[in-house]
Amino acid sequence: MKQKIFTLQEAAKWAADLKAAGKRLAVTNGVFDLLHRGHVEYLKQAATHGDALLVAINSDESVHRLKGPDRPIVSEMDRAVILSELACVDAVVIFDSLKPIEVFKAIPPDIYVKGGDYTEETTDREEYPILKAAGAKFVFIPFIAGQSTTATIHRLRGDAKGIDGSSLEEKIQPLLRRRSVRKFQPRYVSDEMMELLLKAAMAAPSACAKDPWLFHVLRNDGLRRQIAACLPNGPFLADAPVGIVVCGDLNRAHGGELSYLLQDCSAAIENLLLAAQQLGLGACWLGIHPRQDRIAAVSKALSLPPSIVPVGGIAIGWPAQEPPPRTRYRQDAVIVHPQP
Ligand SMILES: Cc1cc2nc3c(=O)[nH]c(=O)nc-3n(C[C@H](O)[C@H](O)[C@H](O)COP(=O)(O)O)c2cc1C
Repeated sequence: MKQKIFTLQEAAKWAADLKAAGKRLAVTNGVFDLLHRGHVEYLKQAATHGDALLVAINSDESVHRLKGPDRPIVSEMDRAVILSELACVDAVVIFDSLKPIEVFKAIPPDIYVKGGDYTEETTDREEYPILKAAGAKFVFIPFIAGQSTTATIHRLRGDAKGIDGSSLEEKIQPLLRRRSVRKFQPRYVSDEMMELLLKAAMAAPSACAKDPWLFHVLRNDGLRRQIAACLPNGPFLADAPVGIVVCGDLNRAHGGELSYLLQDCSAAIENLLLAAQQLGLGACWLGIHPRQDRIAAVSKALSLPPSIVPVGGIAIGWPAQEPPPRTRYRQDAVIVHPQP
């Protein structure tokens, strides 16, 4: 039987032979966990744009980081085998990082196929220049409505209610799962993960989109211990593999007002905490503002000028504890103003 599952090196050789024979290679990538009809239709269409189709799939480790601790459902080798059995697929490679940058570098696509409502402008900013440099033609294929692995998982769990198969309660679960984590494994948090957290933080609402925030990422153990010593309720920051001090720049804040700066930075911190939870990380907000002693000590440790206000710290790492999901919903905190 024709070999279709390749290591990156083997796939590069296969692609080079293909190109030498004057054939054009279409490349797409994805998770393809619980393959469904939407995937198959998508891949069939993708294949029509080249003479051969290579599918790059995320390794189990990268799916875990992308989609959370419960995924993938199907292991990388099983996903590779299933895909390789499709007539429209000519080759499958497994990649380990969150983005298939190494694949694109080793195997420059003639045609790059992407699903969903992407455009060249919204293609990932790291992937785009590599694809462009390879002279790839971009093809965007919309997904078929109503086909999704997430919806299938919800149906299998028996909680199908919403149009996409998830119950309304299920939709807010990621928010309820966010809990403060104060104990961490001695395990490195990659730069890739940190960038994702910061992307989430900087997607927060900000008054007049002034984005007054600044993020001091504490990779340096000594500096992190020094900041931890400034925070009476945050000694565990010293033992976290990484931390962030979120500051606001008064000169950038809406109207130059401290209150807007604090609200914007708080929204960014919350976004970051939620993103950490989604990525399987643990995190805890560490109060700095408005305690003047903490502000002074952190400002000194980070050599901040007076216009930069440290708002809060965040301890981040792979969790060594798992507080259960919860809401602190109180009916008496809700005042409904009925129609007259
Ligand atoms: C402004 C603010 C400051 C906080 N400061 C600290 C802190 O210094 N140390 C700490 O352990 N937790 C701190 N927290 C986390 C709260 O203690 C925590 O969110 C709260 O107990 C609810 O628990 P949960 O996050 O697990 O839902 C802070 C939270 C906020 C919003």
